[in-house]
Amino acid sequence: MAKYYINAANRKNRINKEVYGHFSEHLGRCIYEGLYVGENSEIPNVNGMRSDVVEALKEIQVPVLRWPGGCFADEYHWKDGIGPKEKRKKMINTHWGGVVEDNSFGTHEFMELCRQIGCETYINGNVGSGTVQEMSEWVEYMTFKGVSPMADLRAKNGHEEPWKVDFFGVGNENWGCGGNMTPEFYANEYRRYQTYVRQYDGATTYENGFDTQGAIRKIACGPNVDDTEWTEGVMKTLFRHCPDHFHGNADGLSLHYYTHVGTFEDKGSATDFDENVWYRTLANTLYMEKLIRMHGAIMDQYDPEKKLGLIVDEWGTWFDVEPGTNPGFLYQQNTMRDALVACINLNIFNKHSDRVKMACIAQMVNVLQSVILTEGPKMVKTPTWHVFNLFKDHQGAELVDSCIETECIGTEEEHMVPNLTESASVDADGKLTITIGNLSVSDSYPVETFITGFAGKKACAQILTNEMHAMNTFDNPENVKTADFAVDLNPEDGTLRFEIPACSVVRITVEE
Ligand code: AHR
Repeated sequence: MAKYYINAANRKNRINKEVYGHFSEHLGRCIYEGLYVGENSEIPNVNGMRSDVVEALKEIQVPVLRWPGGCFADEYHWKDGIGPKEKRKKMINTHWGGVVEDNSFGTHEFMELCRQIGCETYINGNVGSGTVQEMSEWVEYMTFKGVSPMADLRAKNGHEEPWKVDFFGVGNENWGCGGNMTPEFYANEYRRYQTYVRQYDGATTYENGFDTQGAIRKIACGPNVDDTEWTEGVMKTLFRHCPDHFHGNADGLSLHYYTHVGTFEDKGSATDFDENVWYRTLANTLYMEKLIRMHGAIMDQYDPEKKLGLIVDEWGTWFDVEPGTNPGFLYQQNTMRDALVACINLNIFNKHSDRVKMACIAQMVNVLQSVILTEGPKMVKTPTWHVFNLFKDHQGAELVDSCIETECIGTEEEHMVPNLTESASVDADGKLTITIGNLSVSDSYPVETFITGFAGKKACAQILTNEMHAMNTFDNPENVKTADFAVDLNPEDGTLRFEIPACSVVRITVEE
């Protein structure tokens, strides 16, 4: 019997809703076909955005969307994507498949997509091949209310009112595809570029930090995986020669970490894997926690108050593309293995939400670990979509103290994992949400939960479970879906008992 302790009286910190964010790049069929089909498409749409996809995204309460890349961001010139569509410049998407990008989805379309989803906007600017002026004018175009060349241009293009830009990324992966820079060089560039990312609505940037309300919050490019030299170099340079309040004017530092198994050339199939690979995938996913601690410790030296967010704005599985599809499009299927990867990562983010203030899964539709897959007019919600749906009540809730007894399971000594993963939070309505995953492919476990600081009177639960290869296909879109799950709450002593099946993700809701 696994003992599970929850002390709801020990409220830790808010889990920012942005921890449940998403990423969409001009890559393969993410934007075109996946999100945007154009106004003239036979696929039902509103202003070109697929209605079925938008509905599915609203259901999981997508809080924020990052765009236009990724590596694409540092080659993107925003002026190519505004004005009459027939006049927009065409370009080759050199990073992703060498296909023609016709720029029919640009700034206005992105803002319209976010309006329909009801989410915040996270724009990623171009440092690698763009200028300070170009970045500055983009921000002016999007956010300035008044008379100015860019505000006039926006109005001429049909949008009188400015939009709200909630987050602005100053470059992407500038240690690699974003310009192959050194950390110190990048951080100096960051300081210069961000100066001209103006707060036109008058919001102050002096009190910077992720939780600054009203401002455009600026995200600096952070490390790849375990590159602590990058984190140290960037943090040192951002904080150098600054009055105390200045902090290099950053509100967040990104971290990119994908779950890989295999090699760069042979990443392994998304659907055809054995138990060894199952556990290897989950063990590699758990490395996320170590990375957060590692980079967090460096950030703590400069920012002990944790004002800067660690922004995990690219995470998820990265396998071989589906056979027969364009290798540059990164299209992969999604199984119960991806569901457990999502469950592990989201529980880790919750547990570290004092520092992890935003995270974006890569990518939203048809690319890598997607929540949605499309084929022509058909759409499926992946097992990962269901995990986001189960976890959504954590958004904006307060993390509470929790701890579960685990045992080490697996098939290879170097890839052993704990059998269970969990986190718990209490929301503004006083509802306790517990999310727990069973990483075992074969074994179920009885769990006895001791809840203190919370007078739970009723409990209900949902489960996502199936065999490890199970997935949703266009022919069988409901193969993996949630179902009600029986839990036994004793209101007298606060104990909650249940048996968690192998390979499953469970959400339990307890109310007073
Ligand atoms: O998500 C795919 C790519 O992975 C992104 O463009 C890049 O930032 C990362 O290397």
